[in-house]
Amino acid sequence: MTAEPAADRHRARPVDLAEAPEVQRLLDGLGLGRLLPDRVVSYNGRNDNWSGTTTHGVDVFVKRLGGPAADAARRLRNLLAFEELLATAPRTAGGLRGPRCLGWSEADLLVAFALVPSAVSGAERADAGDFTDQDAFRVGAAIGTLHGLDHARRTALDTSPPPLPPTAPLTALPLERHRTASAAELRLWSILQQDEELAAGIRALREREAEADPCPVHGDFRLDQLLFTDEVVHLLDCEELRRADPARDIGAYVGEWLHRAVGKLPGPCEGTGSDPAGTAPSTREMTGRATRELTRTRPLIERFRAGYASAGTALAPAVRERAAAFAGWHLIDRVLAQSVQRSTLTPVQRAALGIARTLLLSPAAVTTTLGLED
Ligand SMILES: Nc1ncnc2c1ncn2[C@@H]1O[C@H](COP(=O)(O)OP(=O)(O)O)[C@@H](O)[C@H]1O
Ligand SMILES: [Mg+2]
Repeated sequence: MTAEPAADRHRARPVDLAEAPEVQRLLDGLGLGRLLPDRVVSYNGRNDNWSGTTTHGVDVFVKRLGGPAADAARRLRNLLAFEELLATAPRTAGGLRGPRCLGWSEADLLVAFALVPSAVSGAERADAGDFTDQDAFRVGAAIGTLHGLDHARRTALDTSPPPLPPTAPLTALPLERHRTASAAELRLWSILQQDEELAAGIRALREREAEADPCPVHGDFRLDQLLFTDEVVHLLDCEELRRADPARDIGAYVGEWLHRAVGKLPGPCEGTGSDPAGTAPSTREMTGRATRELTRTRPLIERFRAGYASAGTALAPAVRERAAAFAGWHLIDRVLAQSVQRSTLTPVQRAALGIARTLLLSPAAVTTTLGLED
């Protein structure tokens, strides 16, 4: 079957296969044939990737891990560790799937997966308003299953500490980062550095996660790391897989919905970068509107929680609280991601920071509002 991938996930132009001969070499070596260069498409992502049907009729997705080689090698090992975890998972762990891994090359930092045909990402589903309670349950079950795997720690996982949230830049931004940051990013770091309570909240979260009973976590969860077909949900991109606090993934899921709820707020100057005096709603107004938006997404968090519980792990109160705080960090992380190459923070982004602050400073007070608790 020839894949018909969703058009808007495509990047305009894949990296020319002639400049990446190792891709064909890998596919050839795996006995899968070769990609037809003029039929190849590429999806949006941090790493380069190539998809298409090979000369042997196999639909493949190949990704090349970019960035500094040592770090790319670490991330490749993490992707492979996910495969190992899945392979050793009990049969009952049926709720957790990833695209089938077809092979990899450590030397070329490449990994090939079966292309998931006719799939939509979780982010696309959410954007289209099609993300159902049932989807939320399935995602919760997948994450809960992942978190319940390998209690015996047979699979060796990445032992490096998770890089986020960073604490050093809360004191001072490294010179190189300062030099390359946009004005909006610098503004955001300056807010974080000057708000002592908020900075302390972020530091406290990093200390509190040490109390967690570590389990395999995705570590970079977002809705675009999910791929839905009619029958299954696939978890993608486990490059930051580690044994860590389960609250990280749960908080990221909650944070994704918060980010979307806040993003729907009608900011008068959204996206324009201007902020004429008197037209911007106050943070309080924004928070009120965000709370109303959130009521609509609360069931998606409740159903996620039910799915998570169905995989056999209940959320302990301390995990719920840390998840609320990680959701706060996720909001900040999303604003940071939006600030690259921007000159100002929009009122909506400032509102997001206000909400993040509440979550990081008083997580226990918001678990019920968020749907992390009845
Ligand atoms: N096996 C697959 N089949 C179809 N699409 C895929 C597959 N794997 C990834 N994608 C698409 O490619 C995008 C980027 O893949 P991902 O593994 O997340 O790479 P990155 O590390 O660059 O984010 C995903 O968001 C998804 O839309
Ligand atoms: Mg990704």
